Parts: sequence; structure tokens; C-alpha cells
Amino acid sequence: MEKILIEGGHRLNGDIEISGMKNSALPIIFACLLIEGECILENIPRVSDVQNALSILKTMGAEADFVDYHTVKINTKSAENNLDFELISKMRASSYLLSCALVRFGRVNMPYPGGCNFGSRPIEQHLKGLKCLGARGGESDGFLTLKCKNNLKSNKISLDKISVGATINMIMAAVLLEGQSVIENVAREPHVIDVIRFLNACGADILHFGSYIRVNGVRKLKGVKYRIYADMIEAGTYIACVGATGGALSLKGIEYEHIRPLRLIFDEMNIKISYNSREIYVSSNNPKGTSMQTEPYPGFPTDLHPQLSALVCYCEGGGSITENIFDGRFAYVAQLEKMGAKIKRVGNTVYISQTRLIGASTDATDLRAGAALVVAGLGAQGITTINNVNYIVRGYEELTSKLASVGGNIKLIQGE
Ligand code: UD1
Repeated sequence: MEKILIEGGHRLNGDIEISGMKNSALPIIFACLLIEGECILENIPRVSDVQNALSILKTMGAEADFVDYHTVKINTKSAENNLDFELISKMRASSYLLSCALVRFGRVNMPYPGGCNFGSRPIEQHLKGLKCLGARGGESDGFLTLKCKNNLKSNKISLDKISVGATINMIMAAVLLEGQSVIENVAREPHVIDVIRFLNACGADILHFGSYIRVNGVRKLKGVKYRIYADMIEAGTYIACVGATGGALSLKGIEYEHIRPLRLIFDEMNIKISYNSREIYVSSNNPKGTSMQTEPYPGFPTDLHPQLSALVCYCEGGGSITENIFDGRFAYVAQLEKMGAKIKRVGNTVYISQTRLIGASTDATDLRAGAALVVAGLGAQGITTINNVNYIVRGYEELTSKLASVGGNIKLIQGE
């Protein structure tokens, strides 16, 4: 089993190319089940969740391969309703098969989607919305079975909770239906916008109006060449890293618009950000703590909460983070405590005091918790090891080599 080894205390300086966004690459890969013809997807990150999504399509009989380091070719013409239960139960994004396989085959039967364990991850909004479009069935003994007689029917869907996954599933379920569907109370994350842009490029007619989305069904979608957005969470993680170590990074390929909602917090933390059309320049010398809370986009993302907690340990005055999205986001706290962090959790808020962390042997408990340990280890005194690296490679492409290339003393080693 691989481990990450970090010697802390080295400033970061240089350029990092931000990879494609995992959370839009995954639904876009599954959306290819709705498309006639071949899709060429560019800027696909080489992360294990993407490999698993491609393997799920290949098990179905589709062509789904990397043809270049970051380019995938997908053609689902020969796909059959043959789902790989083991892979599906390993990843949350397999929930997108609920819409894509249902629309393509008229029926879907699959295990409950897996993924990172940060508290309850219900899917009742996905099921409620699909039923609103005419699907029948539901969950029984950990399996989800949905069918539709003839076809799904366009309709108005009002989501009770803002959910990235449910929003994308509803868009994908509605895109080929006759007539107009309206989805209310939708998520606005850049990954949702990326999926809409992709489907529209394939011939869909989807409009996003802030809190609702209008889908005018089209008869068919055609294959296209499409470039996925760069990953704002990966960029935010490197901003946290440079906050913890000091120094300056130029983050390439990321859209400034996607980072803009993070600006308010980073400005308060004295982390300086400037940008031009090609890159975002981040520098930090003497970060200050602040209070923040996670919210749906354009609020501060839950996927940066653990990394920011690690950063706040190094910030003058300490600070606090309130988690409003996932009740189980706090597994990282015990790991940071192994490094000497002073964190007090009260309900869904952590109060963090400024402390120079000390290297320790730690365990990644989920993807972003693992990233938090990287932030902590880079700023710490001494050596940090991070076990369970498999969580981190689910969502970060070449994390250790990217950080090593800008001066971090960090490497992936073979563990016992
Ligand atoms: C996606 C991301 C994940 C990110 C999250 C929030 C992927 C593969 N994962 O997860 O990295 O942390 O968005 O930005 O894209 N909820 C319900 N019922 C539902 C669905 C969701 O109550 O049917 C709740 C969830 O428990 C949570 C909130 O809604 O409290 C947001 O969840 P959601 O946006 O659906 O997260 P995911 O799409 O699973």
C-alpha cells in the first residue's frame, strides 16, 4: 500500500497546471450513454474515479478509453444494460447511471452508490425527481431498481434540497424527453454548468436561470469534442498549501470565475490572489485566521472545508469553520490532532487555535480529509506520513509530483 511522505517547512514557489474537474468529468462520461456517435472529451483528469467510470462503461460494451494522456474517446453505440455492481458500489458518481441507464434502456438495477464516507448521503431527491418524470420503483435491500413504461415524460420537478447530484441527474433524465421540463431549486456549481455546456454542445436545449433550469427536450444528441473545465477544488487545495507554507504559486488553466467565490475568504486570510486570462497568481506570507461556513455554490465549498481547517492551524488568531452540507465531514479532526492541532468541535462547527503542527503518522479517512493532511504536513515541523493514499488518488491527479515540482518535500512511497 502506498503512503505519502512529507518533510514540512519548505516554501512553495512555481507553476502548477490544474487538472480537469473530476466532478464534471464523471457525469459527462456517464452522459455519453445518451449520445449517438463518438465523443472526444479533453482535459479528463487521470484519477481513479475516472478510471472506474470508464470501466463501468466498458463492462457495458461501450468504447471508453484514453486516447491521449488527458483525452478520452467514448462511443456507447454497442452498450448494453450490464452494470458492474462492484465498481458502482465504490463511487458516488455512479448515481448518474440512475438517469442515464434508465433513459437509455428503460430500466436500471444497481447497488446503492458508494463513495467517500462523510455522513449520510441520501438520494431521495434523485428518486423523487425521476418519479416525477414517470419512473417507477425505488430502493430495496441496498439495491435501486427503476423502470419506466414506454418513456419518461417531461414535467416540473421541485427539489427540496439543493443537490449537485440530483440537479445533474434531473437534467440528464429530461434532456431527451418530448416537451419542456423545469427543475426548481437547483445547484449552480461549475460542475453543473460544465454538464449543461457539454449537453448543449451535443444539441441539447438547456437554460440555467439561477435557481431553476429549463430543459426543452430534443430528439437526439450528437457526439462532439468537448473540453472539461479545470478543477476549482484542486486549485483551492493548492491555495491552502501555499497558505500553510508561504511562497507564491501560479495556478494555470483554472477559470478565475470559479475561484471568485473563494476570494472573500482568502482576502480575509491575507492570501493574495491576482489573475489574468491564463493563470491565477497566489501568494501568502503571514496568513490570518477567519470564520467561514460551507454553503452551496457560490458559497464556500464543503469540498475545501478540511483543507481550510488544516490551513487555519497556521493562521494568526486561529478561526472557525461551520459545515452546513455534510454531517460527517469531521473525520480529519482526529488526524490533525495527532499532529498537535488544537481543534474543538461543537456541533457542526470547529474552532481552531493557531499552532505549529508537528509531523506524525496519519490516515486519510476520505478524499478531502487526505488533502487536509497534505496541507498540514507541508506546513508542519518534521516528517508526516499519510496512509490510505487510495482515497487521495480518487480525486487528485499527480498531487505529490505537482507539489514536489514547486518545492514541496513530498513523495509517494511504497509502504509495508
Ligand atoms: C457532489 C460532489 C461532492 C461535493 C458535493 C457538494 C460529486 C461526485 N461529488 O456530491 O464532492 O462535496 O457535491 O458540493 O460530484 N442531499 C439529500 N438528498 C439527496 C441528495 C442530497 O438530502 O437526494 C443532501 C446531502 O446529504 C447534502 C446536500 O444535499 O447534505 C448536498 O449533497 P449533493 O450536492 O447531492 O452532493 P453530491 O452530489 O453527492
